Amino acid sequence: MNLFRRKSVADLQAEVLTDHRLHRALGPLNLTALGIGAVIGAGIFVLTGQAAAKYAGPAIVFSFVLAGIACGFSGLCYAEFSAMIPISGSAYTYSYATMGELVAWVIGWDLILEYMFAASTVAVGWSGYVVSFLRDLGILIPSAFTSAPYNHVTPADAGWNIWRLFTEGWVSTGAVLNVPAMIIVGFITILLVLGIKESATFNNIIVAIKLTVILAFIAVGLAYLNKANWQPFVPPSLSPGEFGWGGVLRAAGVIFFAYIGFDAVSTAAQEAKNAQRDMPIGILASLAICTLLYIAVALVLTGIIKYTHLNVPDPIAVAIDSLGHSVAWLRPIIKIGAIAGLSSVILVMMLGQPRIFYTMSKDGLLPPIFGSVHPKFRTPWLATILTGSVAMIVSGLFPIGLLGELVSIGTLLAFAIVCAGVFVLRFTDPDIKRPFRTPLFWLVSPLGVFFCFWLMYGLPRDTWARLIIWMVIGLVIYFSYGMRRSTLVRPTSVSASCPKD
Ligand code: ALA
Repeated sequence: MNLFRRKSVADLQAEVLTDHRLHRALGPLNLTALGIGAVIGAGIFVLTGQAAAKYAGPAIVFSFVLAGIACGFSGLCYAEFSAMIPISGSAYTYSYATMGELVAWVIGWDLILEYMFAASTVAVGWSGYVVSFLRDLGILIPSAFTSAPYNHVTPADAGWNIWRLFTEGWVSTGAVLNVPAMIIVGFITILLVLGIKESATFNNIIVAIKLTVILAFIAVGLAYLNKANWQPFVPPSLSPGEFGWGGVLRAAGVIFFAYIGFDAVSTAAQEAKNAQRDMPIGILASLAICTLLYIAVALVLTGIIKYTHLNVPDPIAVAIDSLGHSVAWLRPIIKIGAIAGLSSVILVMMLGQPRIFYTMSKDGLLPPIFGSVHPKFRTPWLATILTGSVAMIVSGLFPIGLLGELVSIGTLLAFAIVCAGVFVLRFTDPDIKRPFRTPLFWLVSPLGVFFCFWLMYGLPRDTWARLIIWMVIGLVIYFSYGMRRSTLVRPTSVSASCPKD
């Protein structure tokens, strides 16, 4: 058995031309909206304030620039791959073409951490905002049904004992289930089964709402800027990683979560009308728009309220409160924007996951059920329902902090491999048609890999332990199933019976 057998790029490109089962309905605007839909969410509405208050102060702006540059390297590499191999498997397929089947499986398995767990993480954030919005309206939901029944406290003496880090430290919180989080995941699952067009339209509406709310915050905030709040812009360091330039770096690691999602555009490649042209547009335009908005929000946020007040779950709403009665009307609007914003992140993440399952199943690495496309809706419906069911359970049971760090480490690993893949393929297959070429790839790809590993290095030990255990489970599945069933060993003709557009 050759664990490093590769799919040739030419075969993959031929596959794009023969598989017409998914509905090619998305243009450049839809794709850019998908990117913005996936990116702007819990990161900006929740984490920004906490990272400013604990690590960087107003210099959180530099953290956003830094994380934006790091994601820019990965974004360029994703753009090159997704235009060259426009298949819904995204990073999984790119690795299959560059580093072989085992690495592809590892990345496919790892992407579950990004997409499925990001949907769960953001659903927990969504639940927090909805509960607070309903409370403002006088509707109280018992807290036992709005939070996770378990939390995790790292066992202090566990060192690098992976098994202890994984199994010990679980504490019961007394809550029963996070019901609102489960409800939103269930609703979005149904929408995603019903069709890509319907899902994209819903996403467009939500993205319009959240962009309006963010622009309103920036416009109102600009009128209330108090430059004294920016003094000192880079607060002096208190300890390593706490303020000063070290704090700026640490905050960049924390708010990296805010950028996750632009890559999800690439999972819709087989539903794009003109993927070769529009994939790079969708990925890079959404990343650029979100970076600019993040920098503006960070400047305004720390300019209207002292950063020391921002260590709260709803920093943007708190900042508006601090401006007094004249802008109190904006508070509920901010909450509606946040609720809308978080909904679209869940939607796009849950759109991405089944499409990766779909591709892995077509390659024989997962059972055929994952590749089943609904004859009427033309969506990977069974994989969508499975993703929704697991995301529902996870969002009902676990707290946001634990899930968020797992998402970050999984995403960083995928980004690093995509950046490395672009580099490798330039040498192994230099003559393939590349509709988009990463500029200065010899610099951009290695820098992308470096930034990703560096941010991973900063994540806590128990997150690493969960990643390692997750990967071990994945390898067991690969060696007992996928390795023997791969279509590179047992060719099938899945797409032969596909209806044409
Ligand atoms: N970037 C997404 C968010 O901030 C995951 O919610």
